[in-house]
Amino acid sequence: MSDMDLKLTDRPLGVFDSGVGGLTVTRAIRELLPNEDVIYLGDTARLPYGSKSPDIIRRFALEDTQYLISKGVKAIVVACNTATAHALEVLQETYRLPIVGVLEPGVQATLANGSSKRVGVIGTNGTIQSQAYQAALKRLRPELEIYAVATPLLVPFIEENWLDHEGLKLVLQTYLKPLQKAQIDTLVLGCTHYPLLKSVLTEILGEEVRLIDSASCCADAVATVLKDQDLLALNSREATIQIHFTDLSQQAQTLASHLMCREKIVFKKAVL
Ligand code: DGL
Repeated sequence: MSDMDLKLTDRPLGVFDSGVGGLTVTRAIRELLPNEDVIYLGDTARLPYGSKSPDIIRRFALEDTQYLISKGVKAIVVACNTATAHALEVLQETYRLPIVGVLEPGVQATLANGSSKRVGVIGTNGTIQSQAYQAALKRLRPELEIYAVATPLLVPFIEENWLDHEGLKLVLQTYLKPLQKAQIDTLVLGCTHYPLLKSVLTEILGEEVRLIDSASCCADAVATVLKDQDLLALNSREATIQIHFTDLSQQAQTLASHLMCREKIVFKKAVL
């Protein structure tokens, strides 16, 4: 029986990102919704999305979504800030199934704390240039001071699993200098790869700067959408996770297993 023949509630949840970063969102979803089967698509062959132009990102996001729909998913999570910033609207206009992005939950979590006054945002070139975070935060709380910095060199470090490397610390110190000068009280991690840098970010910025991790906020948003639309899985069996990579390299598989805490994963090669 294929996933297409299953009852809607029993179908898997589709999650996609350009690489392994969206697994931070997947992990948060697994913790919150342990009964949900997940098919994760990492477009490792075309990573990074963050340096590409909006038209290309939209095309890739449409192809990623189409691929997951062909696998019979009941809802889709765009676990990539760059794709959310440039393509969420077009995806929601094109397809009828529920599609959740990472940006809005991150914005809501930032605003949930009324004491935030000076907010830093870091993300890929694509996300920062889209102004999506800056505009959403300003629209909802105009008095916020926002300091946005593109931090494109971080993803390659993370994809290499160099999370504690001296080179990474040097790069981060350079990127974060203007944010420290502006005395930010909150930092939005506007890229699904960045929750993996939480401890080094706190080491540099200090405990007093609140880090907004869009991964866990996004999992909450997914749970709400599934509940509202009566799509929550009703089974009590152990849920499965499949990870499909467009470039099924050994390195990506090792990192994915590590990020998913060595959960039992079925890896597949995705052909879009
Ligand atoms: N995970 C992507 C994001 O959240 C960043 C990686 C990339 O540039 O493709 O924007």
